[in-house]
Amino acid sequence: MTILVTGGAGYIGAHTTVQLIEQNHDVVIIDNLSHSTIEPLRRIEAITGEMPRFYQGNVQDRQLLQLIFQRHNIEAVIHFAGSKSVGESVADPLAYYHNNIASTLVLCQTMSRFNVFNLVFSSSAAVYGNNASVPVLENMPTQATSPYGRTKLMIEQILEDLHATDSRWSIARLRYFNPIGAHYSGLIGEDPQGLPSNLVPYLSQVAMGSLEQLAVFGDDYDTPDGTGIRDFIHVVDLADAHQKSLHFIAGHPGLHTFNLGTGRGHSVLEMIAAFELASGKTIPYTIHPRREGDIGKSWACAELAKAKLGWQAKRTLQQMLQDAWRWQLQNPEGYEQPLLNQPIPLRMAS
Ligand code: UD1
Repeated sequence: MTILVTGGAGYIGAHTTVQLIEQNHDVVIIDNLSHSTIEPLRRIEAITGEMPRFYQGNVQDRQLLQLIFQRHNIEAVIHFAGSKSVGESVADPLAYYHNNIASTLVLCQTMSRFNVFNLVFSSSAAVYGNNASVPVLENMPTQATSPYGRTKLMIEQILEDLHATDSRWSIARLRYFNPIGAHYSGLIGEDPQGLPSNLVPYLSQVAMGSLEQLAVFGDDYDTPDGTGIRDFIHVVDLADAHQKSLHFIAGHPGLHTFNLGTGRGHSVLEMIAAFELASGKTIPYTIHPRREGDIGKSWACAELAKAKLGWQAKRTLQQMLQDAWRWQLQNPEGYEQPLLNQPIPLRMAS
């Protein structure tokens, strides 16, 4: 199958592209490289032996998108491209609404024009806001708490309207919990720009010594140790779910929504201890007040994805953190250090 991957040079996009190529799909990537570089594509080639076809540009660029659909026999789209920082979205909501929503509209219009109706959309557990009790089920009420989360929710609603009007659409809305880890090879991983805002990239940099200590945001939540609990999922497991979703929507036209998590939660203090074990380093930390907008606990009920997609997260927390640490050790500057200086594995198991 020929698959268009928007945002394929990003963290989850790159891991998904590796799996798609390994499953013998043809991948075409569009990415504006606003938060990435060409380097992940070279790394994808080092892992799979194949360089995905790549177009640099915005998904809102209707002409470019049309050109891609004209040139390639696209059969399905996985839509990752979008801005994803909660803090940035609060500071500049219009940029977030414009970028995330406009690109999805142009994408869907172009897909429809070229009779492509199979779409996997990268959504987020952020759509549940602080409404949900745990474990979180797909049919629980949604209520995002940031402009970023609201863009995800709005896009989900747009896709619902689209499907209600035209039953040719077959759509999977995938609600990710907390993706972490990296490909086993250490060649691709999460490369935050500037100071990391998410827990595991921050832990990695503290363990490296490039950041002094971790600020634990709140120890007065209603959880056993008082710190926040999240459902961390290995990015390679997540990538696998995309590939299974593509297969599923091809055989089951409709609008589908799946939580992607492990179904287990871990607290911030548990994560510190587990990261110390994985890295062999001591992680200094101090307790700080709660971070605005954070919730106490969030973990998925992932039974629907198991029943319908035949998918289940397989990798343990230790594997997630060992892989995150390997990526960090091999790429202290992220993708800034070109592959040339790194040992290139011929082909690694994912
Ligand atoms: C965040 C986003 C979410 C996004 C997800 C992507 C917010 C409010 N939510 O989720 O929309 O989809 O990232 O992975 O930003 N923590 C610390 N110290 C730190 C960083 C985090 O104690 O320096 C704690 C947080 O308070 C939280 C847990 O670690 O309890 C996980 O935080 P994080 O990795 O930022 O993810 P989320 O906040 O769950």
